[in-house]
Amino acid sequence: MIPSVLPTYNRAPLAFEKGEGSWLTTVDGARYLDLGAGIAVNALGHANPDLVAALTAQAGNLWHVSNLYQIPQQQKLADMLVEHTFADTVFFTNSGTEAAELAIKMARKYWYEKGAPERIEILTFDGAFHGRSTGAIAAAGSEKMVKGFGPLMPGFKSLPFGDHDALRAALTNKVAAVMVEPIQGEGGIRVLPDACLKGLRDLCDETGALMILDEVQCGVGRSGKLFAHEWSGITPDIMMVAKGIGGGFPLGAVLATENAASGMVAGSHGSTYGGNPLGCAVGAKVLEIVADPAFLAEVNRKSSLFRQGLEGLVASHPDVYEAVRGAGLILGLKCKAANTDVVKANYAQNLLTVPAADNVIRLLPALNITDEDIAEALTRLDKAATAVAATTP
Ligand SMILES: Cc1ncc(COP(=O)(O)O)c(C=O)c1O
Repeated sequence: MIPSVLPTYNRAPLAFEKGEGSWLTTVDGARYLDLGAGIAVNALGHANPDLVAALTAQAGNLWHVSNLYQIPQQQKLADMLVEHTFADTVFFTNSGTEAAELAIKMARKYWYEKGAPERIEILTFDGAFHGRSTGAIAAAGSEKMVKGFGPLMPGFKSLPFGDHDALRAALTNKVAAVMVEPIQGEGGIRVLPDACLKGLRDLCDETGALMILDEVQCGVGRSGKLFAHEWSGITPDIMMVAKGIGGGFPLGAVLATENAASGMVAGSHGSTYGGNPLGCAVGAKVLEIVADPAFLAEVNRKSSLFRQGLEGLVASHPDVYEAVRGAGLILGLKCKAANTDVVKANYAQNLLTVPAADNVIRLLPALNITDEDIAEALTRLDKAATAVAATTP
């Protein structure tokens, strides 16, 4: 009999009832150290007092009004995002997938309004993940995600990751935009080198193609900059944001330059819940905290601390681990053992980690994880790796 919850996830037998900082407590009272943070969502940890205060204050006043009206909390967050980024304008969504949908629509509409309606193609890269809508699975193009869901939305081409020549050849005058994650999350914490991102920007400038960055997983302080592309010094035309921006409340956004957004006018897009007062009140508090240079400096310091320990872990468990990847607190351990076995061994140490493609486990702790919790995580990772090595033939 089919479970009452549609079985689209292989769920671990863990049910949590309370969270505090980087710790979660199960319904049975067991405590787990959380290095997943809801897959890069709980940017400021669980039950962060500042976010609880922002949410509850707003909840006592007004939960929802339609986008038919002015929404001051939305205006405030949009102004903050414009102040802190390349963007001139922002549309709020409830998720990363919805942000992907709008980014695609915006790029196509841009060319349509420019009198080049044939420029509809969106170039993406292998290993990419942009969500689960029919548009977003067409963009990712991975066999696993698209099988059985055809016909796929036309107009997407997936290129080999980091292959400059293939990219140049594909950038014809049919291309509306190139869409890329500066750091692939689901794809296995694969960092697109700064030189590639700069080269991509140059190619987009040469050909006119818009550059869409998907910072749903790597954005909002996670890389050690407010947005990961800032490391390379380039700016995109359009950027997708979600996950961390809501700190656990469903919130996403598409940020764009005035030029890239020029095709979008009243009636060309909308959302019932996108930009609701609750989400935006929380998002403004998250951004206020994360955009502080002192906070980002701490993310980088903690990243160095964690990374140093992880390098040691890899060196002492060469049968289990191969390498450390990533930036800031979006870190990955490329495994030699099966990554799913490593994640299970971590569960046995009451430690939550997240598998990714390319036989990687992801470490995406709260950005304000304490030094003590990093040390504790390293101890548990070490014990788990010893257990994996003991059972690996
Ligand atoms: C890079 C990236 N883009 C898009 C998405 C889709 O976001 P959501 O699950 O909020 O729809 C994800 C989710 O994991 C992601 O990592």
